[in-house]
Amino acid sequence: TDHYAVIGNPIAHSKSPDIHARFAAQTRQDLQYDRLLAPLDGFLATVQQFVRAGGKGLNVTVPFKLEAYAMATRLTERARAAGAVNTLKFENGEMLGDNTDGVGLVTDIVRNASVAVAGKSVLLLGAGGAARGVILPLLHEKPARLVVANRTHSKAVELVERFAPQPCLEVSDFGMLDDTFDIVINATAASLASEVPPISPRVFAPRTLAYDMMYGAAPTAFMQFATQHGAAARDGLGMLVEQAAESFYLWRGVRPETAAVFAELRDKL
Ligand code: ATR
Repeated sequence: TDHYAVIGNPIAHSKSPDIHARFAAQTRQDLQYDRLLAPLDGFLATVQQFVRAGGKGLNVTVPFKLEAYAMATRLTERARAAGAVNTLKFENGEMLGDNTDGVGLVTDIVRNASVAVAGKSVLLLGAGGAARGVILPLLHEKPARLVVANRTHSKAVELVERFAPQPCLEVSDFGMLDDTFDIVINATAASLASEVPPISPRVFAPRTLAYDMMYGAAPTAFMQFATQHGAAARDGLGMLVEQAAESFYLWRGVRPETAAVFAELRDKL
């Protein structure tokens, strides 16, 4: 039996053990997946102990994604672009750091919501770690425009400057947004405070997909704002399941089916 875990602080609320147990049962993979609480000043020691005990991989959550990035001995391109690691794989004395959040978002939009990103105009709200993590996978889809806007404008400028200049990648200001977008992604932490980023409702049209990376039992404030202005809204539960599936694939080389797991998680929210 190979051992995996999700490491964070706090960790009790994590749905990852539930998701990965379902993936393992479905694909008949012989693995165990636990919750690992690391002290705030003890991430490195906790990971090292897990590796010494024979652990094969970790999902990394708040607040350790930057420490995991620093700790990895090798990084995938998407982890480098994200500047953060949510998946570690231990193999041949190496610690491979990956980031599956962005591809999880893209898969949920493109495959599960059946909304293409290619050729479309995309508005990304936020310039923190959550926003940074999804830019490269979104660019790989070749959107016509990817506009990054943030409450603190300078942070959006700094974020976009990390990426190679390309005509489709732009920065805007919350107050300046006046176009309609095909997809509007909320990567701010506003929903945690039941707030909505102060943007014009003109960004939404009836064909717009408004995507909140947060999720919960009820639609977020951002989703309510978007639907009030005619958009179709979706929360981040699908992103959660898809990033897990991508981690599972990195570790096991097998792609689990996500639809049933998503439906079961939704029922339990
Ligand atoms: P995360 O890793 O979740 O992205 P973060 O790095 O702290 O967390 O970034 C939080 C993001 O949410 C930032 O873009 C922040 O905007 P500022 O850069 O202006 O602080 C954004 N944010 C948080 N609360 C917000 C609110 N009430 N309205 C709009 N944006 C908000």
